[in-house]
Amino acid sequence: MKNILITGGAGYIGSHTAVELVKAGYRPIIIDDLSNSQKAVLERLQEITGMDIPFYLGDCSNRSLLEQIAKDYELSGVIHFAAFKAVGESTQEPLKYYKNNVGSLLVLLEFMEAHSILDLVFSSSCTVYGQPDVLPVTEDTPRKDAESPYGNTKKVCEDILVDLIKSKSVLRIISLRYFNPIGAHPSGKIGELPSGVPNNLVPFVTQTAAGIRKKLTVFGDDYDTPDGSCVRDFIHVMDLADAHVKALTYLENKTPNFYDVFNVGTGDGNTVLEVIHTFEEVNDIKLNYEIGPRRPGDVVKIWADTTKINQVLGWHPKYSLADSLRDSWNWEKKLKE
Ligand code: UD1
Repeated sequence: MKNILITGGAGYIGSHTAVELVKAGYRPIIIDDLSNSQKAVLERLQEITGMDIPFYLGDCSNRSLLEQIAKDYELSGVIHFAAFKAVGESTQEPLKYYKNNVGSLLVLLEFMEAHSILDLVFSSSCTVYGQPDVLPVTEDTPRKDAESPYGNTKKVCEDILVDLIKSKSVLRIISLRYFNPIGAHPSGKIGELPSGVPNNLVPFVTQTAAGIRKKLTVFGDDYDTPDGSCVRDFIHVMDLADAHVKALTYLENKTPNFYDVFNVGTGDGNTVLEVIHTFEEVNDIKLNYEIGPRRPGDVVKIWADTTKINQVLGWHPKYSLADSLRDSWNWEKKLKE
């Protein structure tokens, strides 16, 4: 059984990817400092997968901890999720973001080279495109200056990977540029668990529906979009998890010294108001929301061209927006219980 180190594996996308890895016959090994996740996720993963997934508590930029893991398990690949991701906070504390997001990648890459662990899947983001001039965005769409230090850490990390491969490193690397992940495992046992007030749309929607938040504010309805609210490409987290497994198995068949990047979205855009109305419809709930001012730094509209990932990785999303919003609500309800 191949062992795959998942940094940030107790987090939202990491935990769902752990489930899909087990399903595909891998053993995930999780390292997580629990700075934005809960240890209870590990028990949930056990319930879902039937596997006692090895867990190391700590920071993935702690080289001696990584060395310990390499002693305990022969690793064949790494999926690097661990990162800070609050856009607003990154503008207040940029060094924290660069140190954590860029620093951890450097440590991991040195570790991988030292142990000849060849395969890396890196969590990038559609944030690298900024507000694109042409939609949908393909992987060849030029990247723009980042709107935030957070966004820039993703760009810088991609650049580091490109330079490393140019230097003839034996590593095989894929960057996945995520669009907007939402939804939860259909069992409702794991899902997104933001600490404090959520920044992202769907956790705010579900917490409002659950009565934890009084009211959802739609940040602007006067944009140049079908209903005036922003457009995003919302992708079910299980589909996103599956993309990581496909990326990993693809890398395993590549010759050493390889880099590529893939968009992971559905290929369709939906407005914020469409998300709200779909949520109300599939879950038969009235959401308390109001229209508020625009949020500074928001991209107006973006969605993915997914031709490349469809054709090269053979990956296709299986879940609809309605499925995602049903699963998000199912998770929030289970949390409440
Ligand atoms: C942002 C980042 C993205 C990052 C992600 C992780 C940008 C442009 N995007 O995504 O790179 O990976 O966060 O956290 O920096 N909205 C509301 N009311 C709310 C919350 C959100 O109307 O209470 C709207 C936003 O204005 C936006 C849409 O919902 O139009 C999605 O927002 P959000 O979930 O925060 O994601 P992004 O901003 O797309």
